[in-house]
Order: sequence, then structure tokens, then C-alpha cells
Amino acid sequence: MMFMKAVAAIALAALAQTGLTSAAPLEKKDVYVPPVLYPRAGTVWYSGQRHNVTWDNSDPPASISNGAFILLRSGNYEMPLVLAHDFDLRAGRVEVTVPDVITGNFSVVLFGDSGNWSEDFLINGVLDF
Ligand SMILES: *[C@@H]1O[C@H](CO)[C@@H](O)[C@H](O)[C@H]1NC(C)=O
Ligand SMILES: *[C@@H]1O[C@H](CO)[C@@H](O)[C@H](O)[C@H]1NC(C)=O
Ligand SMILES: *[C@@H]1O[C@H](CO)[C@@H](O)[C@H](O)[C@H]1NC(C)=O
Repeated sequence: MMFMKAVAAIALAALAQTGLTSAAPLEKKDVYVPPVLYPRAGTVWYSGQRHNVTWDNSDPPASISNGAFILLRSGNYEMPLVLAHDFDLRAGRVEVTVPDVITGNFSVVLFGDSGNWSEDFLINGVLDF
């Protein structure tokens, strides 16, 4: 429980920072939060593997904020665990390495201007409880 609280506090701090950085640019940007296509329900990843996270890039706005990143989410917590950052949101995919986790259901959150998360999927981690 202490652990989850600490993780939540750190995640909130990370989100607060995100708010600051996305508020910083003076130029007006379109809000772009494309839906994640993969991983999805039924996907099984193993710690240490590499996979492409993919999203629907069919309808990008003319200008996209910098600083795209992907976080791992567990339950309702966005963990301060960055799977990828500073990639091109228009590409529709980015390769990530599956981190060492306790086996369980996770999702990934794709951040453009705000976050959109994948369906829950299983990661077979380095520890089972
Ligand atoms: C987030 O993704 C869902 C589909 O997974 C989509 O319906 C929704 O429009 C997206 N949110 C935004 C703000 O684009
Ligand atoms: C990710 O996609 C790219 C382009 O299709 C491909 O070259 C690469 O091998 C893929 N990576 C993985 C881990 O599947
Ligand atoms: C993951 O979620 C599925 C479906 O809700 C559930 O059956 C399974 O037990 C969960 N696995 C773990 C390791 O939590």
C-alpha cells in the first residue's frame, strides 16, 4: 500500500510537470490524442521483449506539440515509467522494450497533448505474486 501511494504521488508529480510543459509553448497547438491500437486486450508481452506500440495516425492535425511520450499504466495509476519519449506522433508506431515488472495486467498511455490509453493486456514479468 505504501508502495502504491508513493507511486501515485510520483505519477501526480509527473503529470503536474506535464501540465507545465504543455502550457509553456506560446504557439497555439491542436489537441491530438490518437487512440492506441496495439497492445490491446488479449496481447501478451514478456519483460525484456521489444514491441511496436501503434496508434491511429490517420488524422493528424497540421501542428503537433513536441514531447510525445508513452507511460505504463497499472489499474488507474499512470506510473512514472517512460517506455518511449520524443518520437514522432505522426509515425503511428514506436518501438518499446517491455520493462521488468511483476506479472499483471497493464495498459500503455500515449501522450500527445493529453493521454489516451490502450486496452488492458498481460505482461509476463520477472516476478509472479
Ligand atoms: C481516445 O481514444 C478513443 C478510442 O480508444 C477515442 O474514441 C477518443 O476519441 C480518444 N480521445 C481523444 C481525446 O482523442
Ligand atoms: C517495428 O516496426 C518496424 C516497421 O514496421 C519494424 O521494422 C520493426 O522490426 C518492428 N519492431 C518490432 C520489435 O517488431
Ligand atoms: C488479467 O486480467 C484477466 C482478465 O480480467 C484476468 O483473468 C487475469 O487473471 C489477470 N491476470 C493477472 C496476472 O492479474
